[in-house]
Amino acid sequence: MILQQREQPAPVAERFYLYRAPEPDTVAWFADDVRTGLLASPKRLSPKYFYDDLGSALFEAICELPEYYLTRAETEILERHANEMVAALPGPIELIEFGSGSARKTRLLIGAALEVQEELDYHPIDISPNALILSSTGLVAEYARLTVKAFASDYVEVLESARLRTSKRVLALFLGSNVGNYEIPAATRLLRAMSASFKPGDGLLLGTDLKKDAAVLERAYNDPTGVTAAFDKNVLGRINRELGGHFDLDAFEHVARYDPRRGVVESFLVARRGMCVPIDDIGIEIALQAAETIHTESSYKFDTGDIAALAAASGFRVERTWTDADRRFAVSLLVIV
Ligand code: AVJ
Repeated sequence: MILQQREQPAPVAERFYLYRAPEPDTVAWFADDVRTGLLASPKRLSPKYFYDDLGSALFEAICELPEYYLTRAETEILERHANEMVAALPGPIELIEFGSGSARKTRLLIGAALEVQEELDYHPIDISPNALILSSTGLVAEYARLTVKAFASDYVEVLESARLRTSKRVLALFLGSNVGNYEIPAATRLLRAMSASFKPGDGLLLGTDLKKDAAVLERAYNDPTGVTAAFDKNVLGRINRELGGHFDLDAFEHVARYDPRRGVVESFLVARRGMCVPIDDIGIEIALQAAETIHTESSYKFDTGDIAALAAASGFRVERTWTDADRRFAVSLLVIV
């Protein structure tokens, strides 16, 4: 192939920008949420705090588990349909991703976009700065016509700040069934914040895990290798490391249950015995009774009606939905009305 003579692309260092939320802020957010959640009844911790460096690595390991089919099913959909997804919006586009993690699946969409346009801006937003730096530096090295403007912060904080600036047609990505971690009203508020931040005609690719047999779902969230249990308990490890907590991780059991009526897998850490746990840096002591639970994650499951209802309640319409061959997972293109 003979490439047309054109200007050299900008060097790698000029194509990667990072906004990083100040560390005092992120420590304060974590401390406030831990205090509120562990003093509440029933006790709860937000799943967004799973993802420090160790938690991100454990999540990557989860994606390799035979029981955790979600990542493979979504990758299959993107491998087959990324070109159609990009072509469904009038270009040129720019990409914004909420919860980019390793951005492995995103490569399929970046590749598809760069087949039909000269240059691409990609704005990943992730709570985990190191995951973001690692994935972004890899991407700019691999794609010479890509610029990455990354945000290591909270989604809503970025949406509400004036820092995220776009000029082209936006294709936002919210993949991996990450939306399932939100209770329905909170998911609606988050998607509404997205539709309010972008323009009519802009798109959102929403990945959702589909409702299915309880045994299959519960196995995906409680694998026999214990990787998911380690991932779940890491939030307590993180409280120990970052806030001077004194949790004994062996004193907890990881439990995941599917409630078919509400369509949600809920994960809990269950105390194996009564205990009193000081958390030095926030000056509190947490009392747990034997068998008391800490709710650590909700993973909502969807059907096409649920997706349409969520879209309609948040300023979008469903343009199209793609599924994997086994119909385990869906990626829907929502368009802002
Ligand atoms: C990446 C948030 C979608 O809920 O399936 C995997 C994380 N938790 N195993 C999910 C997770 C337990 C996950 N999300």
